[in-house]
Amino acid sequence: MIVPGSRSQALAASLAAALDDSLAVPAFDRFPDGETFAAVPDAVDAERAVIVAATPSNDAYVELLQLQDAVREAGVDEVVTVLAYMGYARQDRAFEPGDPISARAVARAVSTGTDRVVLVNPHEASIAEFFDVPCDVVDAASRLAVPLEELETPLEEPLFLSPDDGAVDIATTVRDAYGGGDVDYFEKTRHSGSEVSVEPSDAAVAGRDVVITDDIIATGSTMAESVAVLRERDANRIFTVCVHPLLARAARTRLEAAGVARVYGTDTLERDVSAVSVAPTLVGVL
Ligand code: R5P
Repeated sequence: MIVPGSRSQALAASLAAALDDSLAVPAFDRFPDGETFAAVPDAVDAERAVIVAATPSNDAYVELLQLQDAVREAGVDEVVTVLAYMGYARQDRAFEPGDPISARAVARAVSTGTDRVVLVNPHEASIAEFFDVPCDVVDAASRLAVPLEELETPLEEPLFLSPDDGAVDIATTVRDAYGGGDVDYFEKTRHSGSEVSVEPSDAAVAGRDVVITDDIIATGSTMAESVAVLRERDANRIFTVCVHPLLARAARTRLEAAGVARVYGTDTLERDVSAVSVAPTLVGVL
């Protein structure tokens, strides 16, 4: 049985179809004091529950704990938790004395209600070690080639570019899945939570279609800066693609204002730019 979190209903449905498994219909509610409620009336008699949840907020984490507890209470033998997008993953170390390692704190909490975790493109693969149960990390970046392959006008001399060297593997994966093009990366400096600057590489971009790839678009600062640099250097169409289209604050507008041609993400977070599902990638580990 596939059990959707309230923010992962499309992905859960795609996964149920891909695995030919049943899809639970949870009851989601909120009490007058703001507390959340998530129940799984269909869970009775299921052998395995695969809970599919993105956790971009505190409420989403509580909802996940409730779904885990509900299926256990109903007598399910095995609980698998697919963290489509793991919130707090970027707080993966104590940056200042006294800071919490928030990614570890939430990982420990999630571990209490599950036999196994599947994590889609976490900020760092080492985050898997924070869980107290077996955790598989899956890389869904190759799925981002799908909307690019479907473009009416194919990419012209494509350059797949990551905004920093940390995301160059994603650029390479998307390029390989697309089937052609060059790969390069910028040097990024982060000045604050919403301000970054990028230093261009030597790659020739004039007249070329450029696909900027990253694991996540959060505030959009990284992508907007990269788009601006590429426009100054006369790139042709500029696409921004990411696994997790968080799109916080005015990120979407920021990208439009910067002059992006299209924004594509996956359904690890359900947004209007979620152009492709990661379900085919998840099938391999479920
Ligand atoms: C950073 O290491 C990540 O890969 C992303 O580049 C970053 O989190 C994006 O954040 P924002 O959209 O706020 O610039």
